[in-house]
Amino acid sequence: MDASELHTPVMLERTLELLAPAIERAAAEGRAPLVIDGTLGMGGHTEALLAAHPTLRVAGIDRDPDAIRLAGERLARFGDRFIPVRSTYDRIDLALEAAGAARCDGILLDLGVSSLQLDAADRGFAYAKDAPLDMRMGQAGDVTAASILAERSGRELARLFRVYGDEKLADRYARAIVAARETAPIETSAQLVDILQAATPRALANQGHPAKRVFQALRIEVNQELAILERTLPAAIAALAVGGRLVVLAYQSLEDRLVKRALQAAASSTAPRDLPVELPEHAPELRLLVRGAELADDAERARNPRSAPVRLRAAERIRAASTQGEPS
Ligand SMILES: C[S@@+](CC[C@H](N)C(=O)[O-])C[C@H]1O[C@@H](n2cnc3c(N)ncnc32)[C@H](O)[C@@H]1O
Repeated sequence: MDASELHTPVMLERTLELLAPAIERAAAEGRAPLVIDGTLGMGGHTEALLAAHPTLRVAGIDRDPDAIRLAGERLARFGDRFIPVRSTYDRIDLALEAAGAARCDGILLDLGVSSLQLDAADRGFAYAKDAPLDMRMGQAGDVTAASILAERSGRELARLFRVYGDEKLADRYARAIVAARETAPIETSAQLVDILQAATPRALANQGHPAKRVFQALRIEVNQELAILERTLPAAIAALAVGGRLVVLAYQSLEDRLVKRALQAAASSTAPRDLPVELPEHAPELRLLVRGAELADDAERARNPRSAPVRLRAAERIRAASTQGEPS
């Protein structure tokens, strides 16, 4: 199967529309435009960008070696206009370095897991498929979902399920896991699903799959998704040339909240209230391009159920950062 069949890009047209003015502006200034796709995945967004803009280069970051390989095959026809970078997306600096650039004109973050990862039978991301409880997106590091279930205290597990999964039965599920692991280690997704199902009160059994939020919480913790995103947002904002645009697609509320806060902060004046005039270094660095968050439309939701939870936010850099020299 090729990469295009493994994942359908979400809000593709809107993403292209939002990034186009920044790319066209750089091209009009006689520069080869550069976009960093921080979540290359199967390369769906990147392919459409490269096809739409003949002088564009895209540095595509992914922590997953399978994504780099499959997207690389898909994008081979673009030659050196596509630059693969295997890393976590907080390393925007590595992508700039690989492209030989000081700044970029666009950054795209399409957060979360790809359909390839969710569907991979052997990775343990999906509660509907029995597999070892691994959940590492990049296959690096020693922390897996199974090691978290084996080693963390009941209190810590409950906190993870509550904070990263918004799970109301967090304490109950944590207690059930601690009791079960005394008998046998919890190593597969089917084992975990059984434990959670048995611990769910019958009255709540038909309110969505009991494992959904616990699996989400484990995945976030294994991959340090929120901590990495929190570091990435200021790095991404700082990497944009003036006129450059950032587009973020988030699929769960904790990520969307981090994005919203970072964009709103950079789009606000930092001038102290009592200052009569705003100094240039206090002026907002970003202009928000969409009001609130945009959702996928009904047609896309019907076509691609994975687009249902998406929240898109976007912003444009309107002045050089105070610490930033003139864009090169
Ligand atoms: C939703 S998919 C992207 C799909 C892509 N836009 C497309 O159209 O094919 C998200 C990708 O981001 C990668 N990813 C998630 N978190 C990451 C991180 N912290 N650093 C680098 N890559 C990450 C995943 O491995 C996955 O391949």
